[in-house]
Amino acid sequence: MPLPTIEWEGDVEGRIRLVDQTLLPTELKFVYCEDIKSIWHAIKTLMVRGAPAIGIAAAMGVVLGIKDIRAKDADTFLKELKQVTSYLSTARPTAVNLFWGIARMERVARENKNKSVREIKDALLHEAIRIQNEDKVICRQIGENGAKLIKDGNGILTHCNAGGLATADYGTALAVLFKAKEQGKHIKVYADETRPLLQGARLTAWELVHAGIDVTLICDSMAAHVMKQGKVQCVIVGADRIAANGDTANKIGTYGVSILAKEHGIPFYVAAPVSTFDLSIKSGNDIPIEERSPEEITNGFGRKTAPEGVKVFNPAFDVTPAKNITAIITEKGVITKPSAENIQRLLGTTIS
Ligand code: MRU
Repeated sequence: MPLPTIEWEGDVEGRIRLVDQTLLPTELKFVYCEDIKSIWHAIKTLMVRGAPAIGIAAAMGVVLGIKDIRAKDADTFLKELKQVTSYLSTARPTAVNLFWGIARMERVARENKNKSVREIKDALLHEAIRIQNEDKVICRQIGENGAKLIKDGNGILTHCNAGGLATADYGTALAVLFKAKEQGKHIKVYADETRPLLQGARLTAWELVHAGIDVTLICDSMAAHVMKQGKVQCVIVGADRIAANGDTANKIGTYGVSILAKEHGIPFYVAAPVSTFDLSIKSGNDIPIEERSPEEITNGFGRKTAPEGVKVFNPAFDVTPAKNITAIITEKGVITKPSAENIQRLLGTTIS
């Protein structure tokens, strides 16, 4: 069921249509973003979320931002474009795909600076749609590469949502599961609910149920017990940013799952596109970790679940050290024992 997570409608004066992921699983509703503020807000509030989908939203957001640019010449246009991209860059800090998508758009604008403003705008729309279409292909390649690691009868644990909703469609970690099922393998998936915003319960369980995959929802705190019972043969998660040495930022709780997997001798896989690598960052220590509002914890279930005035710490991501990662599955192939050398060997200088 390829669900159109995010689509552009119309020409350069058009709009973005996206699935409001905050309403799932009870309501499947599309929202429309007509201007840059509304897409910034959609990214910030997780209406659109997941690293690759954020990259696409940012690229399309640039096209919304340039609607209002009235510059007559390319130089003025490029200056005003910088204001657009600087603003979009503040939506969320951790998923590198946001900055990657914006950088691609800036590069295309520069490459077309000898053209008319209208032509530059057309080229930017073209690039945003290209990023989306490329992601569809990439997700399928990740699925192909990852499914080779899955055996018939495997129990697989995943955390957060790295499915079609987090990408153009099909997903990264979930692509591996979709592909394994298409290959006729019988798999049993354990989905961590993923506190505080429940992406695992609301989104991953929803996607897998719709895909006819055997999925069992567990609270995050149950993962160790489920592993000890021998129900899990591998863990697969997505990623928001992978440093040059393989340290990987993903949804809060992923690091803990990696330690549990290590303790139980279970392979721990990360599935991510090449665009999620940030080779400018040496290790996970330098990855900025988003902190979100306390209400996500104290009011997360639609009612108060904590006393007034209690202190809250709400980091949205954590970093899994490369030493806990068995392999990183990308569209270009699988990087086993991720390290600076092994990553460089597979990716070369192809990150753009
Ligand atoms: O805060 P979110 O929901 O955007 O966090 C998403 C995740 O951490 C995903 O696991 C990650 O982006 C991989 S998505 C293919």
